[in-house]
Amino acid sequence: MDLAKELISMFTTSEMAKVFFTCSGSEANDSQVKLVWYYNNALGRPKKKKIIARSQSYHGTTFISASLSGLLAMHQDFDLPGNFVLHTDCPHYWRFHLPGETEEDFASRLANNLENLILKEGPETIAAFIAEPVIGAGGVILPPKTYFEKVVPHVII
Ligand SMILES: Cc1ncc(COP(=O)(O)O)c(C=O)c1O
Repeated sequence: MDLAKELISMFTTSEMAKVFFTCSGSEANDSQVKLVWYYNNALGRPKKKKIIARSQSYHGTTFISASLSGLLAMHQDFDLPGNFVLHTDCPHYWRFHLPGETEEDFASRLANNLENLILKEGPETIAAFIAEPVIGAGGVILPPKTYFEKVVPHVII
């Protein structure tokens, strides 16, 4: 209970009321996807179920969290990812920028690609976007400058 109170006190941007403890990061990611699905069912939005994750990301080993992960070796021969996941660009500037493209331009292109993906799929079918602030197990990839400030407005739906 003390830990729950301490965690709640850390969320100052928007107030949190509850803490849900799990035994692993994989289980935590499964739980948050299930909560998003439960939430949309409760609101009568049964189609709003797709989760957008990123290529090269790592979110864990269970069915849901391995599906979210954007690593080929975790999918091949395991019949993954599940059909509720869409993968968008890996934010690796050095590897994927175009000739002459600045970090900021690269971030804008990735944000545009994300918006186009949401529009193509239908915003009414997109439930959430999941992203590590810094991709860890997928290669320790820092986002390009301005990435999150450009990407986040597209996923506040
Ligand atoms: C960003 C991220 N999410 C999820 C996980 C999965 O956590 P766990 O190994 O506790 O299941 C990890 C593990 O390294 C991680 O780095």
